[in-house]
Amino acid sequence: MNLCPVTLHRTVFADWRSVHSWASLPDVCRFQPWGPNTEGQTRDFVRAAVEAWEREPPRRLVHTARVGNAVVGMGELHIRSHTQRQGGISYIVHPRLWGQGIGTEIGRSLLSLGFDVWGLHRIRATCDPRNRGSARVLTKLGMTYEGYHRHTALIRDGWRDSLVFSTVEDEWRAAPRSRADAVAEGPHPPQPGAMPGAGPLGATSPGGPPCACLDPPVCRVCGQEGCGVGPCRLR
Ligand SMILES: CC(C)(COP(=O)(O)OP(=O)(O)OC[C@H]1O[C@@H](n2cnc3c(N)ncnc32)[C@H](O)[C@@H]1OP(=O)(O)O)[C@@H](O)C(=O)NCCC(=O)NCCS
Repeated sequence: MNLCPVTLHRTVFADWRSVHSWASLPDVCRFQPWGPNTEGQTRDFVRAAVEAWEREPPRRLVHTARVGNAVVGMGELHIRSHTQRQGGISYIVHPRLWGQGIGTEIGRSLLSLGFDVWGLHRIRATCDPRNRGSARVLTKLGMTYEGYHRHTALIRDGWRDSLVFSTVEDEWRAAPRSRADAVAEGPHPPQPGAMPGAGPLGATSPGGPPCACLDPPVCRVCGQEGCGVGPCRLR
């Protein structure tokens, strides 16, 4: 596999159709208290996400994830407390692209945004215990499993439980250099558009240096040649 870098961008209302392409699918919201969305529900969600950026100080930083020009998912950094420097992350990827490392790259970018730009002390994430893909993403991000919380949300098939993971700032600073690279290449301080912590993460993915197994390397999502930096499964 070969992918252009995953970049995060401040969500704008015009993204709603892309968002709806996954928010309307039962598989995507299987473990969530929302969905499958109608178009109106997706528009309301995106409108609220856009408005949340205007709050001061901001609490919900909702991003659209792109590979090249293709919208492939979303990621949110939720600043739960500015004074206590507590945050949370969540992410979603279009199902046609699951299993290609995009969810992990979105998560890594959100952690970098939270620690390196917003100066948070602790960032947590939760997932339904049945959501093996999300639990795997959190493990690949190096987040620490903290425990099992019962009946945290009422969803379509009843009360769901949650696995709780977190990373604290010392762990983030001590992590391998590749994590810090992600934000070093992004704009700083926060700018509209391409957001900090959202740099060319493919270049710092666990896959290592640019992939040379395809000639020329063509991104499977955006069709561009020559990026050669995506995580490669042919190694
Ligand atoms: C969770 C989600 C974001 C993962 O996105 P993704 O792009 O597929 O994530 P990645 O490719 O980076 O990693 C997924 C990992 O989970 C693994 N995985 C996926 N389904 C799995 C399953 N049923 N059992 C075990 N592992 C599974 C993949 O093999 C991969 O691990 P690997 O790299 O070691 O092979 C995506 O499935 C999604 O959008 N789900 C719906 C929304 C959601 O649940 N969001 C999270 C809210 S807590």
